[in-house]
Amino acid sequence: MRKLRDLTVSDIGMGCMGFSHGYGDIPDEAYSIEAIRKAYDFGCTFYDTAEAYGPNLFPEFRGHNERIVGKALKDVRKDVVLATKLHIAAEEPAQDGSVYATVKRHLLASLERLGTDWVDLYYLHRVNLAVPLEDVAGAMGRLIDEGLIRGWGLSQVDVDIIDRAQAITPLSAIQNIYSMVERGIEAEVIPYCLAHSIGVVPFSPIASGFLSGKVTASTDFSHSDDVRKFVPQLRQENIDANRPILDLIGRYAEKKQATNAQISLAWMLHKYPNVVPIPGSKNQGRILENLGAWSVSLTDEEFEALDAALDAIPVHGHRGFVQVEGAKMSDWGKK
Ligand SMILES: NC(=O)c1ccc[n+]([C@@H]2O[C@H](COP(=O)([O-])OP(=O)(O)OC[C@H]3O[C@@H](n4cnc5c(N)ncnc54)[C@H](OP(=O)(O)O)[C@@H]3O)[C@@H](O)[C@H]2O)c1
Repeated sequence: MRKLRDLTVSDIGMGCMGFSHGYGDIPDEAYSIEAIRKAYDFGCTFYDTAEAYGPNLFPEFRGHNERIVGKALKDVRKDVVLATKLHIAAEEPAQDGSVYATVKRHLLASLERLGTDWVDLYYLHRVNLAVPLEDVAGAMGRLIDEGLIRGWGLSQVDVDIIDRAQAITPLSAIQNIYSMVERGIEAEVIPYCLAHSIGVVPFSPIASGFLSGKVTASTDFSHSDDVRKFVPQLRQENIDANRPILDLIGRYAEKKQATNAQISLAWMLHKYPNVVPIPGSKNQGRILENLGAWSVSLTDEEFEALDAALDAIPVHGHRGFVQVEGAKMSDWGKK
């Protein structure tokens, strides 16, 4: 078990996005609910969703994923930590009267879809330059006092943003991209979070499947709702150029009788005590495989050799993520 400030969670959580959005065709609801229950039975107590996760992110499908997660976990609600996220459009606070009113309106809608009275971890999905961050932090503090949320977080942010928010209402977690091939947050964000008891929840910890070794030239990204079409790191030339990283992981996988994906997760668990990755998969077997990484332990010696070897291999291409809403496409992939 790990701590995200006051929240206690399993060492690895479950990213539920793929049941609604992002990785091509979605499974039928019964399969998705069964997958979440299997993860729970396996020991997973941390589930990640967002109001935005619905097919193609069309507004009419908003909450598709929250409904699935809510249904799957309804009867074990008290035993799990549910995280969801909101976006705030520039015009909303003026329409609602305040940032607090906007955040609360989004939260109440999420609660209804999740079928619960509280959210454990409520993230701002992206900082919007048009909405004062301090007002969002203040609103989150009020919602904690009201018992509607237990903690709050920010997603895809740098230390200056984290520090401004933390000064108003202490954060439970930061959810940023982090994996063996996206290590930008090791420089400042993770040390800051360690020093301030903030959890770090890496999204895309398997680099959208690349680190599993199962993304190849023949993998089909053609579906309209597949984010991998836009991931520079998954262009064929970068898949080929990053092959030495897979070879390295593969050697450890063989030695530890684990899979590549498990080694990539075990590496970050060993590296930082405040990191709780949330791998995503639509496949029930792979979900349990990924959670099983919490049983793959590296010795200090193995970890240090792996980490040093990773440091020595250049990474080709980046994952490509917008830091703040209102930022330009040219900002993609910047730290
Ligand atoms: N805050 C944000 O802005 C943000 C952004 C993106 C994601 N997220 C959250 O983070 C979660 C995880 O992100 P992600 O889904 O991009 O993570 P990921 O696990 O790095 O990538 C998911 C992809 O990898 C494949 N995969 C996963 N485990 C595998 C395994 N063991 N073997 C082979 N392939 C495997 C999946 O394919 P299959 O489905 O076919 O197994 C899927 O295509 C999401 O579910 C979502 O909750 C947050």
